[in-house]
This record gives sequence, C-alpha cells and structure tokens, in this order.
Amino acid sequence: MLQNRLQPVLDPYALARELSNKLLIEGAFVPAKSGKTFPIVSPATGEKVAEAAEAEAADVEAAVAAAAKAQRGWAKLAARERGKLVAECGRLLNEHVEELGRLVALETGKALRTESRVEASVLADVFIFYGGLGSELKGETVPFRPDMLTMTLREPIGVVGAIIPWNVPMMLMALKIAPALVAGNAVVVKSAEEAPLAVLRACQIMNQVLPAGVLNILSGFGPECGGPLVAHPKVGKVTFTGSVETGKIVYKTAAEKLIPVTLELGGKSPMIVMGDADLEKAVAGAIVGMRFTRQGQSCTAASRIFVHESIHDAFVDKLKAKVDAMKMGDPLDETTDIGTIISKQQFEKVQSYIKIGEETPGAKALRCSAMPKDKKLEKGLFVQPVIFTGISNDSRVAREEIFGPVTCVIKFKDYEDAIRQANDSEYGLAATIWTKDLKTALDAAHRLEAGFVQVNQNLVVQANLSYGGVKSSGLGKEASLEAMLEHFTTKKTVIVNMA
Ligand code: NAI
Ligand code: MG
Repeated sequence: MLQNRLQPVLDPYALARELSNKLLIEGAFVPAKSGKTFPIVSPATGEKVAEAAEAEAADVEAAVAAAAKAQRGWAKLAARERGKLVAECGRLLNEHVEELGRLVALETGKALRTESRVEASVLADVFIFYGGLGSELKGETVPFRPDMLTMTLREPIGVVGAIIPWNVPMMLMALKIAPALVAGNAVVVKSAEEAPLAVLRACQIMNQVLPAGVLNILSGFGPECGGPLVAHPKVGKVTFTGSVETGKIVYKTAAEKLIPVTLELGGKSPMIVMGDADLEKAVAGAIVGMRFTRQGQSCTAASRIFVHESIHDAFVDKLKAKVDAMKMGDPLDETTDIGTIISKQQFEKVQSYIKIGEETPGAKALRCSAMPKDKKLEKGLFVQPVIFTGISNDSRVAREEIFGPVTCVIKFKDYEDAIRQANDSEYGLAATIWTKDLKTALDAAHRLEAGFVQVNQNLVVQANLSYGGVKSSGLGKEASLEAMLEHFTTKKTVIVNMA
C-alpha cells in the first residue's frame, strides 16, 4: 500500500513528468531493470511530455512473481471484503476524474469534454459496479444422491495478464481488472505504448487501498513486454483488447500453455437505417455510433451505415451538417469536440485508407468539420472526418477496419439485402437498426451477426451489460456479472459422501 493519500494533480504536464520512468510492481514505483525508457508524445502538439519505463522479460518476471505471491492472501479474503476494497478503488478514482481525464487527453489527444473526462468517470463506475458483486461468486448445489452433498465452487484462476490498447485505455483496463480482482485473482497489466500514463496513475491510486502485489502495471512494447507476459508459466489467464493480428499471436501462445483467453478485437459495425426511421435520431445515433468525438478510434465504430434509398440523400446531408458543426481542436480545450489521432503510425494508416476510398470508382468523399488554425497545433495529428458515399460493401474501406474518423454510407433498396450486406463482414462486434416497425427490429435483432445489437439507440459499453463479439471480433465477454464468473474463475465440483 502506498503511503499518504494522493491528491489530484490537475496540471497534466506536471503529472506526466512525475509519472516518468515508472513501473508499478508490488505496490512500489520502480524503473525498468534495463533502465530503458521511451518517449510519450502529445499527439496534439508533437511535444514530448514524458519518458515511460520500458519493461521487458525481467520486469515481467518481477511483476508476475509479486502477483503470484500476493494472490494467495488476496484469495483468502472473504469475497465481500475484496469487493469492498475494489469499490473503495472506484470511490478514490472518482476523486481523480478531472485529473485522469486531463492526463488521458494529453497522451491520447482525445477531447476532454466529449471523451476523456467521460472515460475517467466510467473507469470509477466499473470498479464501483464490480465491487458490489463479491457475494455473487456463488456455486451451485447439484441433486445427485441423497447421501451425497454435491456442489460447485467458483475459484480464482491465479495471476491474470491483461493487455490493453490506447483508444480507451482506462475503461478497457477497468473491464479487465475489476472483475479479475473481485474474483480473487492478482493482475499484471501491460499498457499500450502510446498511452501508459493515465492507466499507471489509476493503478497508483488503487494501490493506496489494495494489498501490495495484487495489481501491478508495466509499460513497454508488444513483443518485448506483452509477449513474455502471455508466455509466463505463472500467468493462468490472458485478457486482451487490440488488433486481430495481435489477438491471434496472443491466442497461439496461450494455446501452447492451454490457458483461457478473452479476446476483444476489431469491428466493422453495421448500422441499418430503414425508410421509416426517425431521421433526426438516426443521424444523432450515427454520430455517437461512429465515435466521431473519438476520431472513430473505436472497435464498435458504426463504420458501415446502410441507409434506405428513400432517405439516403437527406440522411447524408444531415449527417454532414452535424459533423461540420463539430469543432476540431486542442484536446484540453473545453470547447473542442474532436481531438487528434493517437500516433503517426495510425495517422498514416487512416490517411492511406482515405486515399484508397477516394480512388474507388464511384466514391465520393465528404470531408467534414474544419482543421484547427491554432499555431501550436500545427504538428497535431488531426484528420477531418470523412463520409464516403457511392461505394459498395465490397470496397476495401467498407471491409477493413480503419480505426479513424471515416464512415461509409451505403444505399440499399430492400431489407433482406441490408441484412445480407450487414452480415457480409469478417467482423461481428456490434450492430444497430433504426426503424419504427417492431417486427422488423426484432427480426433484425435475431439475424444480425453481432455480439451486441441495439434498436433505435447507440449506447456505449455499460458495466452491467455483457459485451463481446463473434467471428473475427473476438472470444468471450467483458462487463457484466457473467463476464466475471465465466472468464475470471474456474469451477470446481465437490462431492461429500455422507453415507
Ligand atoms: P495491437 O493489437 O498491436 O496493440 C494492442 C496491445 O497489444 C498493445 O498493448 C500492444 O503493445 C500489445 N501487443 C502488440 N504486440 C504484441 C505481442 N506480440 N504480444 C503481446 N502483446 C502485444 O494494436 P495497435 O498496433 O495499437 O493498432 C493496430 C490496429 O489495431 C488499429 O489500427 C486498430 O485497427 C486495431 N485496434 C483495435 C482496438 C480495439 O479496441 N479492438 C484497440 C487498438 C487497436
Ligand atoms: Mg501493433
């Protein structure tokens, strides 16, 4: 446990410097054993804001050893006691919402008002939600024979390795570690190389109340730090969010050890707008669904919007007008709606897809909003949102995950065709349908190949609703009680012979 209650630091630059060159192992800040660091750059200005410690196999070893040692005592606590401490983490994180929002805005370029502050409060909420679920780690009694008591127990797995991405780092970390901890596991987190600061701070805050070693966090690169974590013999479960390619590598390594994995991978989520839909609501839903405020950097982004031909043109006009009205700018400015892309690499990927789209025969690219004019943002990784029209579901921009502010509006004539096209994708994470007809809505809910289907709305992840995809979008579920029980415990059967 760290001493002296931490106070929020509202200057994100100062906090970023303070968090430089630190891993959190066994409740204490340490540098990487090699002494190596890598720069963290603000994507809005291009300036270096911190140096993150670069963990490798030796640091993974230290973190896993600390976790394994701490886990034994942690698992012995009553489940409700663990839950209380996890809920206390949520309350402490709540006191740091503003601080964490600012810090994540600085390192990721996500706008404070529309994204970063919201993410920080979701982080706290996830811990409060799971903190109340300790006593739900129930087994069953099974009628077997009258002279035998037969029951099942939910037991922790041991040490969980959690690998997280940069797009919503705090929230995605929370969905992994809160249920893992309540279930009696210890955790080693590997943060994304682009966004290690806010998650490190969040873990520091939680280590004020958690026993040392129960929650450890490493920053470092994929193959050098994430790889050894997945491969470590003492890691009994891996939970990963990121790309399909890396997900497959993680899965293969886990297969060699025969350990369970949860994989939250990409998406190309369809949104079907029927001719009878409420146009205003559907357009607003497309803006939320496409996560334009997060520069489209979301695995659930509504990046294929199928619109009935009778309202197609009106839909596109309204969507363009609404996105035009959004302000791109400094992520830390309260008036900004849309910030920047995370990194040069992602920026180039997005630009290359915009080019591919523009070169597609028949395609029209509607560039929305306006680039910021501020001199200090000259080097910022800003990309104007793009709405593609006149392209088909077979085009590359409609098939491949862009992970940027680029959506495709595709015209359709009949419902059957819309369902067929919506399902014609490698992915199956989320889907929405917009219609006033209940029969169509329910039919679509049954037929859309996705882990999460919504009708006439586009809510983001909720702590109590199970979330996760089918097909190449992943394996297993996150959020909800079910995710904790099924993915962070093992079930043991016990028979007591009383004869
Ligand atoms: P990535 O999947 O390579 O990275 C995600 C995490 O995995 C990071 O912490 C990274 O360090 C780690 N990692 C990378 N290689 C690893 C390995 N060999 N072993 C263990 N861990 C490893 O994703 P990246 O490179 O950041 O982005 C590439 C694309 O992935 C994006 O353009 C986007 O399409 C997709 N993506 C999807 C996300 C989602 O929410 N489903 C989140 C981030 C990216
Ligand atoms: Mg990668």
